[in-house]
Amino acid sequence: MAIEPAARPVTEGAFSGTALRDDFPIFDTPTGSGMRLVYLDAAASAPKPRSVIEAVSDAYSHHYANVHRGIYELSEDATARFEGARRKVARFIGAPSEREIVFVRNATEAINLVAYSWGRANLRAGDRVVTTQLEHHANIVPWQQLTREVGATLDYVAITDDGRLDLDDLRTKLAAHPKLLAVAHVSNALGTINPLSEIVELGHEAGALVLIDAAQSAPHMPIDVASLGCDFLALSGHKMLGPSGIGALWGRRELLDAMPPFLTGGSMIIRVTLEGAEWNEVPYKFEAGTPAIVEAIGLGAAIDYLEELGMENVRAHERYLFERAWQTLGEIPGVRRLGPDDPDLHAGVISFLLDGIHPHDIATVFDSHGIAVRAGHHCAQPVMLRYDIPATTRASFYVYNDLDDIEALGKAVVATQMLFA
Ligand code: ALA
Repeated sequence: MAIEPAARPVTEGAFSGTALRDDFPIFDTPTGSGMRLVYLDAAASAPKPRSVIEAVSDAYSHHYANVHRGIYELSEDATARFEGARRKVARFIGAPSEREIVFVRNATEAINLVAYSWGRANLRAGDRVVTTQLEHHANIVPWQQLTREVGATLDYVAITDDGRLDLDDLRTKLAAHPKLLAVAHVSNALGTINPLSEIVELGHEAGALVLIDAAQSAPHMPIDVASLGCDFLALSGHKMLGPSGIGALWGRRELLDAMPPFLTGGSMIIRVTLEGAEWNEVPYKFEAGTPAIVEAIGLGAAIDYLEELGMENVRAHERYLFERAWQTLGEIPGVRRLGPDDPDLHAGVISFLLDGIHPHDIATVFDSHGIAVRAGHHCAQPVMLRYDIPATTRASFYVYNDLDDIEALGKAVVATQMLFA
């Protein structure tokens, strides 16, 4: 299953995944199988480059104190680095101001923040929220809870047989004038890239605010909230080469200003008396307690790394790997690939099934080949219900992957089939 170098399109020349592996110490760690680690699970969480690990270590070693509190040099230094990371996140997603970036633990918390704060202040009995059947549970369950609590209705946009959002169904659901449309940019379960500009426009025409779950897109392609025109956007740091425990919510300033706090306590107030409290300005109003200081600084270092590669180049690299992997899997009898086969509509995530072999067994055999993939429902059980399957095996690519990894994937599929034949 060798893939000829001559078949590589010019876009792959943007950078070499093979060479980038040297930046990631995890690839120097021996696997239990003794095989080279082929990491195909970036959609779950991405390995960290040395520069991020060093930024975290350096912050703890030389620049650590609490932020926004100390009238001393070390605290001011930590604060400057923490706020510098906020500016990097803002620049990375094209936010007009870093004041619109709220640090949270992950995209899940960002979406919950909107559901609790904006949702409980703005949604009433009889109102509607629209999400889709393509979502991660993080963009479903908070809306289920919210709509149940206030007596609103939650509608789901259907998925087509090839894993795209049914835009006719979206128009139908929007005709009921929901207050909010919450949609993923990229499906974590199928890899589908949704046509965001069109979706945001349709949502706004219907009078809805539009929240984007960018957990699976921000790490892999350029994002510009200003040109997208959306209202909220959620991302997770750990999927974009940053530490775990840090993510961001971006929201339009006037929306954030008008929203009540989510969590309450220290930092998020300007004044507390025995009678009550006055809230701090955004984003601090939403950052109660000591934040994830060093994790934010690490996320800033991850953004530096990605920006040096260039997000257009990252996308081109993964698009290329997707095409090769899609073709490789398609040439093996007994493999069923899910999601759109148009590389413009498919991120570097491939969910597949092997006839007669459970995905958990596939992942176990792959592990014996040094290949890390995710098997299961991918926190997207409604997607599994749509296709009447319990689970899939999912291979997801990132900057450190290369054609050797795709070849290893193909060989492991054939070896698994032979084992279960
Ligand atoms: N949301 C992560 C995934 O898709 C954990 O694997």
